[in-house]
Amino acid sequence: MQIQVVEVGPRDGLQNEKELLSTSDKIRLIEMLAEAGLQRVEASSFVNPRWIPQLADAGEVCKSLPRDSRVTYSALVPNLKGLERARECGLTEVAVFMSASETHNLKNINKSMAETFPILREVAREALALGMRVRGYVSTVFGCPYEGHVPVENSRRVTEELVSMGVYEISIGDTIGVATPLQVHEVFATLVKDVTTERLAGHFHDTRGTGLANVTAALDEGIRVFDSSIGGLGGCPYAPGASGNISTEDLVYMLHGMGYETRIDLEKLTEAGAYIQKLLGRVLPSKVLQASLAQ
Ligand code: HMG
Ligand code: MG
Repeated sequence: MQIQVVEVGPRDGLQNEKELLSTSDKIRLIEMLAEAGLQRVEASSFVNPRWIPQLADAGEVCKSLPRDSRVTYSALVPNLKGLERARECGLTEVAVFMSASETHNLKNINKSMAETFPILREVAREALALGMRVRGYVSTVFGCPYEGHVPVENSRRVTEELVSMGVYEISIGDTIGVATPLQVHEVFATLVKDVTTERLAGHFHDTRGTGLANVTAALDEGIRVFDSSIGGLGGCPYAPGASGNISTEDLVYMLHGMGYETRIDLEKLTEAGAYIQKLLGRVLPSKVLQASLAQ
């Protein structure tokens, strides 16, 4: 059975790294990810560069993406200005995002949840009219750094709104890595009452070491698309304490071992991990990467 892996390292990973990478290093990383067989790569983010200076070069990165018909590139857009910047680069897919908790939404995008819906609706409408595909994220589904517990009803409502905007897939985010498998079962079992499993993806951060266990729980619930970051880079700068996404190397290793197919070459993937680890000059969280380097 086929699993789709969405590589979010160049966006979710690098948005939280103190070390600023050059545009050409980012492009080389994305090339290596494409060469490893990743077919979906979130390349950058067209947010306000004052909020995320690490990705201020989103335009340059997206204009120079390696052309490969097998790979779909996407980028985050928070509003029409972001969409316009993405369109100028020729992107065919964008991702809108918001939180299931009021305080994180406000801290992250400076808007209440009620103010956000019409903005995202407008972005989705424009993007669809331009022939783009639109992905959506719901953040803080499993817990909020400011509010703690987040009722699943909030996530259900945001998911429904995103679907009604024409978003083709909704990535369910454990922004601060607090989820455990039981909660993952419960949340997805609730969401699939309204949305088919094919339209949902899992986005787990591994802050407390439960990331891969959460993937297996989501697999049991029928989820077949997972977001991950090369090396386990990542976090959310507006979620204190959030650390990296699950690592792509660890995810792919586990999926292959469980008999799933990804069309990803693990050896080439670890080469990409080693490349970004060297550039950042710190040991990255990916266990498979460290094991392969120790051999
Ligand atoms: P704001 O300050 O309220 O925006 O920010 P504004 O509309 O009032 O505009 C203020 C200034 O920003 C203006 O410039 C705009 O032109 C500019 P000025 O007139 O002052 O010179 N501006 C922009 N510039 C470039 N591109 C744009 C853009 N929009 C406005 N798109 C805004 C609102 C949403 C823009 C801001 O809050 C922002 O950029 N937030 C992004 C925060 C972020 O990127 N967080 C991390 C991503 S989310 C995440 O990581 C979670 C996820 O991984 C899933 C999970 O883990 O759960 C997806
Ligand atoms: Mg994230």
